[in-house]
Amino acid sequence: MSPLQQFDQFEALALAALESAKDAAAVEAARVEFLGKKSGRIKALQELLGKATPEQRPALGAKFNDVRQRVTAALEARQQELAQPKAALTAIDISLPGEPVRLGRRHPLTQTMDEFRDLIGRMGFTVAYGPELEDEHHNFEALNIPADHPARDPLDNFYLATAKTAVGGPVLLRSQTSTVQIRVMEKTQPPIRVVSLGRVYRPDTIDATHSCMFHQMEGLMVDRQVTMAQLKTTLRLFATAYLGRDVHIRFRPSFFPFTEPSVEVDMSWGQGWMEIGGAGMVDPNVLRAVGYDPEQLTGFAFGFGIERFAMRRYRITDIRRFTENDVRFLSQF
Ligand code: DAH
Repeated sequence: MSPLQQFDQFEALALAALESAKDAAAVEAARVEFLGKKSGRIKALQELLGKATPEQRPALGAKFNDVRQRVTAALEARQQELAQPKAALTAIDISLPGEPVRLGRRHPLTQTMDEFRDLIGRMGFTVAYGPELEDEHHNFEALNIPADHPARDPLDNFYLATAKTAVGGPVLLRSQTSTVQIRVMEKTQPPIRVVSLGRVYRPDTIDATHSCMFHQMEGLMVDRQVTMAQLKTTLRLFATAYLGRDVHIRFRPSFFPFTEPSVEVDMSWGQGWMEIGGAGMVDPNVLRAVGYDPEQLTGFAFGFGIERFAMRRYRITDIRRFTENDVRFLSQF
């Protein structure tokens, strides 16, 4: 092998050794083996240089410098590469306590509504939405609530405008989700199985169980031969799915303009009964108002307060907790 070839071989071997060195110790070993002052292989090259004739020397000397410079540069690069992660580690004191990540979460009522949609969805009910800003037709008239009915008293509703508006009459914040029954039936042909969850507004005096804004879940099923037994079964299955098997449903005779017969629905859970909402068989007048034939079709409807259910389940005693935005309360869900 000519001296020049020996230089090239030295360089190739040294670079390969540095390349494959996996840690600082291996790099150091490669350094000692190739560039070591006492017994590094570079000494053999120096000897070659010493033996060179005066004519050979300039070229060989230049080669020697080049090779040594490249290997040294590769060594330093490799040392730095391996040192970097260590430097990064020492910059962060991993023994310090971490900064806690404060994750937000869905509001308990949102969680409740998501769960309701899931549970009732398994019984074949799809979800519909309606506007919170309603006209009198959907909030009252189509629901068989005549103009002189006390529920339409302006003092019992949040009317936004008493003058004529673009919709052809006054508009109000809806006082019930029953409005969505009408909106769905106006657009769809039976069979219908739908629920609607959302906010309703009433100028009630606010206390532990009343709020001027709360949430309802409305249900509607219209088909041939829908019965009250199906209504009760649906409500019982739903209530037990949400609260547990020991829940019972009780109907008390009542009156709503849009159902006939109408009932108040009570739920037992532990001791006593709690009113959760109203229900009944859709009044023929309502079916007619949306162009259905009451001789062919029957339906049931129900509407209840979502807060009531959530309060029962989580043993919340004051409805105001839901809207106070107190993180100590909210973070428990
Ligand atoms: N909309 C009634 C309310 O807010 C509740 C209700 C009663 C809904 C009977 C219904 C129903 O669908 O059939 O007080």
